[in-house]
Amino acid sequence: MPGVFDNPYRPAPGSLPPELAGRTPQISAAHYASGLTRTGGAAQPIVFTGLRGMGKTALLRYSVAAAEELGAVVLYSEASTETSLAAALRRSLEHAKAQYAPIPAKIRKAFDVALRSLPKATYELPGDAGGITFEAPRGEHHEGFVEALETLNAEVRRHDRFLLLAVDEIQDGAINDLRVLVRFVHLTAGTAAPVLLLGAGLPNTPAHLHAVRTYTERWRYSRIGLLAPDNTIQAIANPATARGVTFEPAALQRLVDETAGYPFFIQEYASAAWSEHRAKRVTLADVEAIAPGVRNLLESSFYDERFRRLTPRELRYTLCMADIGAGSHTVGDIAARLGVTSENVSSVRNQLVKKDVIFAPAAGLVEFRMPLTEQYIARHRTELERRAK
Ligand SMILES: Nc1ncnc2c1ncn2[C@@H]1O[C@H](COP(=O)(O)OP(=O)(O)O)[C@@H](O)[C@H]1O
Ligand SMILES: [Mg+2]
Repeated sequence: MPGVFDNPYRPAPGSLPPELAGRTPQISAAHYASGLTRTGGAAQPIVFTGLRGMGKTALLRYSVAAAEELGAVVLYSEASTETSLAAALRRSLEHAKAQYAPIPAKIRKAFDVALRSLPKATYELPGDAGGITFEAPRGEHHEGFVEALETLNAEVRRHDRFLLLAVDEIQDGAINDLRVLVRFVHLTAGTAAPVLLLGAGLPNTPAHLHAVRTYTERWRYSRIGLLAPDNTIQAIANPATARGVTFEPAALQRLVDETAGYPFFIQEYASAAWSEHRAKRVTLADVEAIAPGVRNLLESSFYDERFRRLTPRELRYTLCMADIGAGSHTVGDIAARLGVTSENVSSVRNQLVKKDVIFAPAAGLVEFRMPLTEQYIARHRTELERRAK
């Protein structure tokens, strides 16, 4: 079958797309920060924020790879509510040690020191939520760890390289853990060996990190969103062109409409269209053939399940949000439109947060958790209104 094994699109979370379209400002900012750090200047930490599937991880990975070309030694970790950052860092240190195998023995030794100084897994106790939280005794372990990172940093610098800490899903990091990392990064900012921190997280990241505020209030948060039509076209057409395949303009236009510039959808639709094409050409007919199937698949995995579980009152709340439009809305505005007080609907709001349909990007604001929820509601309006009665 033609085109199946050389499909260039990457419809999987965290995968680097064949064309990272529309993110030039973020790529440049991260590149500048890396260059500055390499020459001994302290750069503000940068955190890419955005809804799921917007391309935060892809952007972080891309920026990290670019920094490695400038000489960065990278500790890449993913924070999670299930495990401690110490455990995540342990993995990242082990990974880095293996990945940078050709690095001088001294740096390798410093990796070992850092690994040994990490709080042990035995200090991970079940937290209130039933998950695992990091509960190392205050003081010595953290201090030991910071010292070990300092040693590692000094070794890395001695060999003309610099240290980059990359933390994905940073909104899930325990505040105490993050405080240690952040303090370390800020300690180095005043020295000739600054460490760069790049992160990625959901839009509530700034609110989450508020608790570390003395350190994080001047961080640079860069929110990424849907791609503009020309960037969507670039993301779809360029990888095909590189393989000698062309998209009909009408096919591209249809994909722009179907995907609404949502990176995750772009990869899904483009990948399906690619599988459908024949003779080095993706036609409008190809796109029309795959569109209903892809849409059903995406709707069932992104929205259907969430909306099925909503009560009439909860549905009315979401319909009202959709009426106001895309983006975040004040809880007061929604309540006013519903003709009630904010307190009156606070339990509805809490339920919707619990059911993962909305979240609070900041105090007093709510926003749909999944991108393009407004469009989903518009397409299923009649049925949702009937259920909202
Ligand atoms: N700028 C972009 N252009 C095209 N596709 C992208 C872009 N950024 C990410 N993608 C694709 O979108 C999907 C989601 O990206 P991911 O980085 O996992 O999002 P997030 O981390 O925000 O949830 C992946 O399939 C990825 O390859
Ligand atoms: Mg991600």
